[in-house]
Amino acid sequence: MKRIETVIAGLVIALSASCGQPAAEKAKDMEGKNEVIETIMSRRSIRKYIAEPVDREVMNRILECGINAPNGMNKQSWEVRVVDKPAVMEEIKNFMAAANPDMDPETVKGCFRDAPTMIFVANDPSYDCSPVDCGLLSENIMLSAWSLGVGSVCLGSPVRFLKNSPEALAILGFSEGYTPIICIGLGYPDESPEAKPRDMSKVKFID
Ligand SMILES: Cc1cc2nc3c(=O)[nH]c(=O)nc-3n(C[C@H](O)[C@H](O)[C@H](O)COP(=O)(O)O)c2cc1C
Repeated sequence: MKRIETVIAGLVIALSASCGQPAAEKAKDMEGKNEVIETIMSRRSIRKYIAEPVDREVMNRILECGINAPNGMNKQSWEVRVVDKPAVMEEIKNFMAAANPDMDPETVKGCFRDAPTMIFVANDPSYDCSPVDCGLLSENIMLSAWSLGVGSVCLGSPVRFLKNSPEALAILGFSEGYTPIICIGLGYPDESPEAKPRDMSKVKFID
């Protein structure tokens, strides 16, 4: 009996000691060994990849991270299509080039940056939070990918060309009412670009 009392007393002391540490101090303690912050700060857009699609098991984990993003009222107002077969990607690119005759076909096709795995994200324009939902999903995808050694680049330009091509859209098969909003190229990196500068003066505390 005495032993149990001693163990319980020890647990109570240990718990109260950890709860007693001020939250701000705890946060500072965690900064030094924080893999999330390390992933966020080291991620860069990758535009050169080895010619190998991302393993599907790895992709599934990355996509799970994507759909676990915060999203308005948990409506999950996104649809995601993954293309990792070169023949399918080629078909989509050809349809897009044909649908944009004012553009050089190589420019249209090059907008995908030759990423071996391509994610197409569509949003629900009838819901005002949907673009934000899709952005958060995309960031979760890119950060989790980076944490697993997979590079990525967020791509806005393919969407402009894609919208003109019913054939390319038909391949992707989004539900009625969903329209593409962003693409994400993914693959194993074949470059290590420098960080681009950020402007901290855009952020202000209001006192
Ligand atoms: C909404 C959005 C659209 C983008 N579109 C393109 C694009 O079409 N082509 C491209 O090469 N990069 C594109 N990027 C990548 C940005 O150029 C890149 O994130 C930015 O220059 C900062 O560099 P970093 O990602 O390496 O930090 C896009 C990024 C975002 C968020």
